Amino acid sequence: MADTIEELDGILAGAGPAETDNEKYWQAVRAQFPYNGSIHYTNNGTIGILPHMVLQAQIAVLKETEIQDGDTGGVAYPAPHEAHGKLAALINADPSEVAITRNSTESMNIIALGLDLKPEDEILTTTHEHYGGWSCWQHRHAQFGNPIRKLDLYDPPEDEDEIVRLFEEAIRPETRVLSFCHVTCTTAWRLPVRKICAMARERGLITVVDGAQSVGMIGVDVKDLGGDFYVSSTHKWLFTPKGTGLLYVDDAAQDKIGLGYYTGGGRPTARRFENNASQSHAPLVGFAVAVDFHNAIGTSLVEDRGAAMAKWLKTRLSDIPGVRVWTPMSRALSASMVSFSIAGMTSSDVGTPLRERYRVHSRGLHEGGYHGARISCAMHNSYEEMERVAGAVSEIAANRC
Ligand SMILES: Cc1ncc(COP(=O)(O)O)c(C=O)c1O
Repeated sequence: MADTIEELDGILAGAGPAETDNEKYWQAVRAQFPYNGSIHYTNNGTIGILPHMVLQAQIAVLKETEIQDGDTGGVAYPAPHEAHGKLAALINADPSEVAITRNSTESMNIIALGLDLKPEDEILTTTHEHYGGWSCWQHRHAQFGNPIRKLDLYDPPEDEDEIVRLFEEAIRPETRVLSFCHVTCTTAWRLPVRKICAMARERGLITVVDGAQSVGMIGVDVKDLGGDFYVSSTHKWLFTPKGTGLLYVDDAAQDKIGLGYYTGGGRPTARRFENNASQSHAPLVGFAVAVDFHNAIGTSLVEDRGAAMAKWLKTRLSDIPGVRVWTPMSRALSASMVSFSIAGMTSSDVGTPLRERYRVHSRGLHEGGYHGARISCAMHNSYEEMERVAGAVSEIAANRC
């Protein structure tokens, strides 16, 4: 396992062309993840598993800072770190527009509690939100009375413009905020964020994009997407340390939001939303290494590999009697996760045997009225693992009663 980016570059160069179907290359990538593989981990969509390099960077800084003469003040209070610049470059933002928070849930709460809204301003969200992207609005409603409405996206059309039209038709005069996912945690749909944001901007609405499932999985260019706020749980697909995530506040949206809780204040950049009190420095160090690790492979290659593997799995699962795949085949409307149901079975009917009998760690589908499982196709996953998933689902579906 590589300790440095230079070593990683050398290992990857020796594994042949950096292509989606060069299995030797992907085995070299997998070898950078120290987890022992006793269970097939296909739940990156909940939380990632650290590459050796990211883990070691944190251990090293912890050792260095904790084993010293007690003068740890310089490292325990966060200062601008190279992690901010690296994250900003990855998503095409200015460093002043990014805050490193703990996760999407925290970022969403910062937005929901900090937005400058009148009590009657409505928040329009969807039936596909994760609790982490939804409970903050419930809280806003309880605190300030803002009404919330959910657009029903159960089984939406497989056409970007039709999806935008659904959003457009749901907007009412009182609607002020659109809050929706980039990649849904339920069906693993990739929503046409750029088009939805453009439509919302024409109507003077504020857009909040929950990209918990996107940064590190697919290319994210916040300027091209054009939303006001973008959040992500980088600990998932970007393999940053657990307890790290993104809050992006577009420069033009800085005055639409204030501090919902006191963090230390500061100049009106996104950094004012970071917790400025004492904390561990190690996650920021690990964060910067994780972005380097990702860049050594490259966003488009990671995205293409995940899409190819997910397509393969969708094709296999679609052929199994009783299985309904919810994730579209369309590349534009999907990414690196696959969600499916088995007729007559609950989430635990599917997920429990997958885990206990077949040693596959999936994620149950709960939100939005779905029952079934979700499989992540991350850079450390292999086609053998997906073959195992397909075989297991086939047996589980055949034995249903
Ligand atoms: C779309 C979406 N939003 C928010 C979250 C919450 O993520 P976190 O627990 O990292 O805040 C998740 C987690 O899976 C998610 O999929």
